[in-house]
Amino acid sequence: MKVFTTKKELQQHLLQIKNAKKSIGFVPTMGALHQGHISLIEQAQQGNDVVVCSIFVNPTQFNDPKDLEKYPRTVDADIAMLEQVNCDVLFNPPVSEIYDDNEQWHLEIGPMEQLLEGKSRPGHYQGVTQVVAKLFNIVNPDTAYFGQKDYQQFSIISKMVELLIMPVKLVMCPIKREADGLAMSSRNIHLTTTDRQHALVLSKTLNWVKENFDIAKISQLTHEAELTIGAEEGVELDYFEIADGKTLLPADGHSSIIVALVAAKVGKTRLIDNVILSR
Ligand code: PAJ
Repeated sequence: MKVFTTKKELQQHLLQIKNAKKSIGFVPTMGALHQGHISLIEQAQQGNDVVVCSIFVNPTQFNDPKDLEKYPRTVDADIAMLEQVNCDVLFNPPVSEIYDDNEQWHLEIGPMEQLLEGKSRPGHYQGVTQVVAKLFNIVNPDTAYFGQKDYQQFSIISKMVELLIMPVKLVMCPIKREADGLAMSSRNIHLTTTDRQHALVLSKTLNWVKENFDIAKISQLTHEAELTIGAEEGVELDYFEIADGKTLLPADGHSSIIVALVAAKVGKTRLIDNVILSR
């Protein structure tokens, strides 16, 4: 695997690939890689000649400086994992390669970025769209791969691509879970053994909602889910919402895609998860 830390060297390398008319699949990450990330790399490999992964812990999407400081950084292990699955290129730049000192601008792609995660983490999605726009400009991929795990992030990036007419195709990949149902996340390493047990209430409740979706009202399902999660020891519910999969506003009779989304603090760790209920 070729590893680049500067835009210039990465772009020189990618120019040869583009000149040879090879397609580029791109998987942006913040590292601390797990099988969820690797499933994105594998899906990108199926659809492209060359796969580029980026590892960049983007400071502008963290509204809490402690969260940024605490974010796991495991680059050596990440490189070993990427080499094992034959990823072609890693872009792992320092912050100074992506941002000027005191850079002040952001995109505002509409009301969706103020909902759910956006409400709990003000400015988060502005940081995400800022860095993803820059990474798309640097890599110029044919297709970029994101996880359903961050459903709202995918929706917001899709909106950005649509509004700015960015020449990239987006693919949403399914959520990878541990055997017991916990959605894989770089943050899971912060969970204690007891947190880990309590955290299962999230995926279990989402499953229960999916199973009962055809027989119960959305308001009932939401109420029950909130009660179940709220009653779990060590779990502090932030939101549970059954939303329209396109607007992320509460689902109504016209919603063609419906998704249940949850966020909760388990011990000291904030986790998110979701399930698509209908298409
Ligand atoms: P990160 O949290 O590292 O996630 C990178 C990609 O992996 C995202 O598209 C995310 O949805 C996907 N992913 C995470 N856990 C997954 C799982 N269990 N199954 C499938 N896919 C999973 O998301 C980010 O980084 C950043 O916000 C980024 C887009 C890189 C911008 O900084």
